[in-house]
Amino acid sequence: MKKKIKENIDFIYQFIDKPKSVGALIPSSKFLTKNILSYTDLTKKNLVIVEYGPGSGTFTREIVKGMKEGDTLIVIEQNKIFAKRLREQLAGAKNVFIHQDCVTNTSKILKRANIDRVDYIISGIPFSSIPKKMTEDILEKTKKIMSDETLFITFQYSTLKINTFKKHMTVLNKKFVLRNIPSAYTICMKKCA
Ligand SMILES: C[S@@+](CC[C@H](N)C(=O)[O-])C[C@H]1O[C@@H](n2cnc3c(N)ncnc32)[C@H](O)[C@@H]1O
Repeated sequence: MKKKIKENIDFIYQFIDKPKSVGALIPSSKFLTKNILSYTDLTKKNLVIVEYGPGSGTFTREIVKGMKEGDTLIVIEQNKIFAKRLREQLAGAKNVFIHQDCVTNTSKILKRANIDRVDYIISGIPFSSIPKKMTEDILEKTKKIMSDETLFITFQYSTLKINTFKKHMTVLNKKFVLRNIPSAYTICMKKCA
């Protein structure tokens, strides 16, 4: 409980410091986390998962719990404090790599790690509050690292950005999660043909 309160306080501090890039006052709920992971099949062998913008690691910890021998998780977080805390928290986790970087550099990160296939990209990037040009850049570069099978999974507090997503991706499914502050939509996409 104390740990959770500390995590929430830390998150609020980061939000106050960088409101647009953090984009939320507190971390996502366990209900939103479960909903995001409902689009994945973590029983598949040799999974490669990329997580964008983990913040304090709400999704990361659940992904790590579900990881098996042979799976790889690449986590990309531009905020120095969040990246440092995640590295400390997940120090013993096997095949989990935390990069303090911008997600627009994902393809370089994957190349350096000799990874040429990604199964899931799970994104916490607050597309509604970052500049439109950055959103377009992230989506364009994300498409380039996706195969026809890769799923891009994200959440948004409104459906306002759906049309921007649709310029780059095909929306496969969208679900509403009431039990989150604020309530949110999870969206599962694949790249346009
Ligand atoms: C709303 S928080 C999401 C945190 C977590 N996934 C959750 O749901 O609780 C958004 C995170 O995305 C990170 N972020 C925003 N833009 C980014 C970028 N271009 N590259 C990497 N991380 C970014 C922020 O630093 C922040 O930690």
